[in-house]
Amino acid sequence: MRIRRAVLSTTIFVPQRHGLRHERRWRGRLKRRRAACENGGVSTDPRLPPDRLPSVEIEEWIPAAAKPIDCGPAPAFGRHFTPAMLLAEWRSGSGWGGARIVPREALRVDPAAVVFHYGQAVFEAFKAHRQPDGRLAIFRPWDHAARLVRSAERMAIPPVPPEYLVALIARFVAHQAKALPDLPGVPLYIRPVLIGTEAGLGIRASSEYLLFTLLSPVAPYFAGRETVGLRVLVMEDFVRASEGGTGAIKAAGNYGRSLLGLSRAKAIGCDQVIWLDARERAWVEEMEGMNILFVRDGALVTPPTGETILAGVTRDSLLAIARDEGMRVSEEPVRIDDVLAGIAGGRITEAFAAGTAAVIAPIAEILRGGESARLPSERPVATRLLAALTAVQSGRAPDPRGWRFPIAREAPALR
Ligand SMILES: Cc1ncc(COP(=O)(O)O)c(C=O)c1O
Repeated sequence: MRIRRAVLSTTIFVPQRHGLRHERRWRGRLKRRRAACENGGVSTDPRLPPDRLPSVEIEEWIPAAAKPIDCGPAPAFGRHFTPAMLLAEWRSGSGWGGARIVPREALRVDPAAVVFHYGQAVFEAFKAHRQPDGRLAIFRPWDHAARLVRSAERMAIPPVPPEYLVALIARFVAHQAKALPDLPGVPLYIRPVLIGTEAGLGIRASSEYLLFTLLSPVAPYFAGRETVGLRVLVMEDFVRASEGGTGAIKAAGNYGRSLLGLSRAKAIGCDQVIWLDARERAWVEEMEGMNILFVRDGALVTPPTGETILAGVTRDSLLAIARDEGMRVSEEPVRIDDVLAGIAGGRITEAFAAGTAAVIAPIAEILRGGESARLPSERPVATRLLAALTAVQSGRAPDPRGWRFPIAREAPALR
């Protein structure tokens, strides 16, 4: 990201609403390119390389991270955070702006805000991985930014222009890069969230929005269960998504409505659920925060994404890698009956969850009602795909599709 830093530190009054009083304000005054980023106007996914990102204005109210945070050798998923957060706001007439990096602390949001009453909240989840030269590279940020646009539009939230989001996050990750401990298999999880903050109890789309982004060093999602293999419950009591709904986007409400199913699965010793379609409760859709893939007769098979299944970036990456390897790949509707019969009959030899958080988590057992189907403990395809994907993510393999987005080694020194 080409930025021109001009000024530097002065002591000023920081507004109370950010929870800070008199602070040294580290302000990077950055060159602005307004055209692409103003008024919430969303250009199509531009896929700019790092050195061609628009310069955006970000105020830095906290110095760049200087040392790794202490989170032990295998930080539990989503429990540890770097010391800063990124904020920006949307205002009618001016669009997205006011980006700033501030200390991570409780947000001040009015209890009458639309997000608390009518659930206007969407988010994204992606990762920056340590590269062999010590730098970080974000994995497929343009795809995540484009999905955040789709999520926002569906929830009547003004979308964040992808080039604005990617520029902000690239800068934020650079600013916080040194907070990531140098632990193998521990990338920086990036969680931008958009919420409607206007106060008022009338049912309507908010007229004000907040973007906040957190960074969290994370070990794999299932904390070792990936090696044993997951036990998953086919959920027949509830559905996650239906046609015309929000299953294809990352709306916070999708997760809220599925928590009871997940709790029931956990209560009987399962790690996860498999969601079925809403109409017939017969077709496999996906899991809780992950897509599902099968190996059937040596081919990689997964349900097609559509209105009820999130188009996972990991899923897409694995399909591409498998095709490159010459594997047969099929995106086709998959009946749960056929899955159970296929496992029993030996046609289905592997099943696994795929997502940013879990990466690839093999499934050992699928339960439905009183039935159980156990998968072989040999998982050659999952093992191979996991190795290939993580090699691209961590810069140990070529990146022919330009999935890696390298960021500055660290925040430029402030003078
Ligand atoms: C419902 C759902 N499905 C699938 C995924 C996997 O998507 P991705 O691979 O982009 O993380 C996620 C995670 O974002 C999810 O929440």
